[in-house]
Amino acid sequence: MSKWPEWLDESLKKPLVIGGRQLPGRIWTASGCFGHGTYGQDILSSDFTSPFQGIGCVVTKTITLSPRLGNPPPRVWDCGSGALNSIGLENPGLEEFIAEVVPELAENNTPFIASIAGTEPEEFGTMAAALHKAASRFDNWHGIELNLSCPNVAHGGVDFGRNTDTIEACVSAARKATPDRAVLAKLTPNSASIAPLAQAAANGGADAITAINTLIGMDINLQNGKPVLPRIRGGYSGPALLPVALSKVDEIVQQTGIPVVAVGGASSTEDVLKFFAVGAVAVQIGTAMMRDPFTVSKINRDLFS
Ligand SMILES: Cc1cc2nc3c(=O)[nH]c(=O)nc-3n(C[C@H](O)[C@H](O)[C@H](O)COP(=O)(O)O)c2cc1C
Repeated sequence: MSKWPEWLDESLKKPLVIGGRQLPGRIWTASGCFGHGTYGQDILSSDFTSPFQGIGCVVTKTITLSPRLGNPPPRVWDCGSGALNSIGLENPGLEEFIAEVVPELAENNTPFIASIAGTEPEEFGTMAAALHKAASRFDNWHGIELNLSCPNVAHGGVDFGRNTDTIEACVSAARKATPDRAVLAKLTPNSASIAPLAQAAANGGADAITAINTLIGMDINLQNGKPVLPRIRGGYSGPALLPVALSKVDEIVQQTGIPVVAVGGASSTEDVLKFFAVGAVAVQIGTAMMRDPFTVSKINRDLFS
């Protein structure tokens, strides 16, 4: 039975269009929490054919130009009401992503948005151009999400994503190389005010904002009094993030009117409804997918079937 409340904008039942491109649905997986969307089809459930049933889009794990080994373990730490992660953007690099991952996503017809990160604006342009060349013949490739906010990398990282000029330059470079797919800019919540960052992204040509990435956090191991993560700080995600994400999404919608794909702390249909109530056009599910890979399928069924 649908859980659609009376007060919710009926236009959300229409197909989602971002930057002129129609996307398959409004409930997506968040970058880094569902791999690249190339495995998991065989996970069993009595209700669904696979965790991919009902997925609007898979946002792939962030890719960088060169491969990255990532940070030393532990990389994920359960903090009770949320998770702390310090993956350090481990990824195979753009070349392998294009050679191995893109064809597999195409073969499975998995709707995807490729997440990319660079250390300077030109790198975003280079990566977007290479992706466009490799993937524009596939209909299941819907766009790119620029990770302008990862707090765990030594170069780039959060300070990079707090500078409006840099944000505009990165988006502009990627936009030029991606004329016919959606361009999303993913922003950090680790700044006093997020609306100016969103406006800078829109000035650079972003079709939508993804908000938010993780909050910077740390935890202490009481057995030795030391930080649990070797890199000391990491990205905090999960249920505790929801009120922060709601506030940031609301700020962007109210102050800029730019379309927002919301992410942060959502794990249930009720959480997703809160994001829609503040004006989000779609919602990504991150940490909750690592607990239950059918979270997106269940929420999509509750609202859209
Ligand atoms: C283990 C892990 C890895 C992540 N990796 C990425 C990443 O590669 N790129 C990115 O933009 N966000 C990454 N994120 C952030 C999520 O996409 C999301 O923005 C954040 O976790 C908040 O949503 P959630 O509370 O639903 O998890 C990662 C989060 C987690 C928990």
